[in-house]
Amino acid sequence: MINEKKPKIWYGGDYNPDQWEKPVWDEDVRMFKLAGIDVATLNVFAWAKNQPNEDTYDFGWLDEMMDKLHDAGIGVCLATSTAAHPAWMARKYPDVTRVDFDGRKRKFGGRHNSCPNSPNYRLYSVRMAEMLADRYKDHPALLIWHVSNEYGGYCYCDNCAAAFRDWLKERYGSIDRVNQVWNTAFWGHTFYDWEDIVPPNGVSEEWRGANGRTETNFQGISLDYRRFQSDSLLACYELEYDALKKFTPDVPVTTNLMGAYKELDYHKWAKKLDVVSWDNYPSLDTPHSFTAMMHDLMRGLKEGQPFMLMEQTPSQQNWQPYNSLKRPGVMRLWSYQAVARGADTVMFFQLRRSIGACEKYHGAVIEHVGHEHTRVFRECAALGAELNTLGDSLLDSRVQAKAAILFDWDNWWAVEMSSGPTIALQYVKEAHKYYEALYEANIPADVIGVDADFGGYSVLVAPVLYMTKPGISEKLEAFVKAGGTLITTFFSGIVDENDRVITGGYPGKLRKLLGIWSEEIDALLPGQSNRLVLSAQTAGLRSEYECGMLCDLIHTEGAEVRAVYGDDFYRGMPALTVNKFGQGEAWYLATSPEQAFLNEWLPKICEDLGARPLLRNAPHGVETTVRAKDGHEFLFVLNHNADSVRVDLGDKSVSDLLGGRTLSGTVEVPGRDLLILRR
Ligand code: GLA
Ligand code: ZN
Repeated sequence: MINEKKPKIWYGGDYNPDQWEKPVWDEDVRMFKLAGIDVATLNVFAWAKNQPNEDTYDFGWLDEMMDKLHDAGIGVCLATSTAAHPAWMARKYPDVTRVDFDGRKRKFGGRHNSCPNSPNYRLYSVRMAEMLADRYKDHPALLIWHVSNEYGGYCYCDNCAAAFRDWLKERYGSIDRVNQVWNTAFWGHTFYDWEDIVPPNGVSEEWRGANGRTETNFQGISLDYRRFQSDSLLACYELEYDALKKFTPDVPVTTNLMGAYKELDYHKWAKKLDVVSWDNYPSLDTPHSFTAMMHDLMRGLKEGQPFMLMEQTPSQQNWQPYNSLKRPGVMRLWSYQAVARGADTVMFFQLRRSIGACEKYHGAVIEHVGHEHTRVFRECAALGAELNTLGDSLLDSRVQAKAAILFDWDNWWAVEMSSGPTIALQYVKEAHKYYEALYEANIPADVIGVDADFGGYSVLVAPVLYMTKPGISEKLEAFVKAGGTLITTFFSGIVDENDRVITGGYPGKLRKLLGIWSEEIDALLPGQSNRLVLSAQTAGLRSEYECGMLCDLIHTEGAEVRAVYGDDFYRGMPALTVNKFGQGEAWYLATSPEQAFLNEWLPKICEDLGARPLLRNAPHGVETTVRAKDGHEFLFVLNHNADSVRVDLGDKSVSDLLGGRTLSGTVEVPGRDLLILRR
């Protein structure tokens, strides 16, 4: 648990006093205390200030600020400042800047702009981490390290090309093997020498396609380059991690992730983080279920351990096309949504709103007016006070779920760089459909990687498990054999980890488990649809639903048919099947159904298997979760609606942690308010 030194839900966020003149500092601290802020993230973008040239380091401002915050009872989440290199470095050492997708050598500018394979970037970033760790190792304000910031983006420079070749040598051993796994006989791409291999980008194998996709001629090359770039940035993180640990072995280290951020394989990253932290920036119209899924994805990265909400805005963003204000109560409610799903911190970007450059219209606890008499400040201060009263009651408690959704970055990359059958298929969106069905039914779900332990679950949903990496089919078979229920979908089991098709009939290695053969895959045009016609009447379900996007034309090989297609030349062919396998069952949904089908069908399957709703008949917009520890359960009931709702808590009385009341039966939850019930 990270919060030992400060055993409460940490409250605070990014604070950039290095961007301000000193007279403001005391005023800031006065207001932090008013707002109940007890953690400040310092030094995120201060590399240029800390090291104004190659030979000079100056941490005077940081020394003073660390002391000042400590005197005020505020702890520090200390960043290493390496997310934006200083201008002198770019001038003197051109290897630190990246080459972009279009092959252009970048000049100084932006942030997150350092080549991860630049020898100079690595040298100076590690040295910075070491200097900071040595300097502040005994500082009483230091709570946790924050390495760099939101790692991301790719580089295609010559240093990366060379490092890519090394990475390939390590992974495949020989150029022959590379040719084999990339299937380079296609289009005469045979590589004779490691030097022939160049990064796949806009000047070689890739191009920007429709629907925001990056297209490629060679999925094998492009997949490996993604893995390699993710690993390269991770290596930079690890170098800093090791440097910090040399001086402060007991101080936790993290870097802030970004939810479903496509470029980095967070399952791999999470193994190197002491605690997962992430930045949550939904817009006004982001479905609450989507934000919930992102929290669950982040929680799932480290086997359900509590995570940090590292950043959210108190009011509005600046970088979305339309930056709506969070309505009164929403900041508090969304903060608790994070806590309800496993966060042990509530932190903002940013504590004071900057006056220049692109984030001056980004919300902050202290706004441009500079005093505390604002709506946003009042809401922040009220939440700060409330989190104080909660103390350590929720810390380190765990969310428990009987259902899980499988999510895999390699699969995501492969699905969305596949040339055909459709550009409409978006992995996260498809996964969210299943998540949403459970969310709407108030059935808790974990979102887990393919390496996770499946043991504790009764239902696994694997949407579009297109890529079956080594071991996964065996693992799923073992899960079902032992009594688990697997639900997987169209376009599953098609390729191996190099995007090579598994021959002998789709869904490849899942064929036996699912008891089907998928002979062809039809892609529907936008606006075209088919019908999913159920074979038997089931209470609570309609007899047919719309479906589309992709339709697998399947034959059963032992599985039972539960629905067929209603239209087209494959009318009457199976569209939904279930196969008994050992003690369990494996379902195949051969097409993408309308949401209503999943909302009505999936919860039934789950309930039959013991994955039950936390609250029954809750009105739409009511979200529930449970966190548990020490034999207690904390039921969160969040009302996302603007108006109040009535929910039935059942006969047993429970105590409301926030209101201090004892409740039972039907109770009212005001609009954008919540209950935390201890039972
Ligand atoms: C990210 C970054 C912050 C800031 C915010 C603005 O999360 O980490 O530095 O730019 O976005 O929303
Ligand atoms: Zn590079």
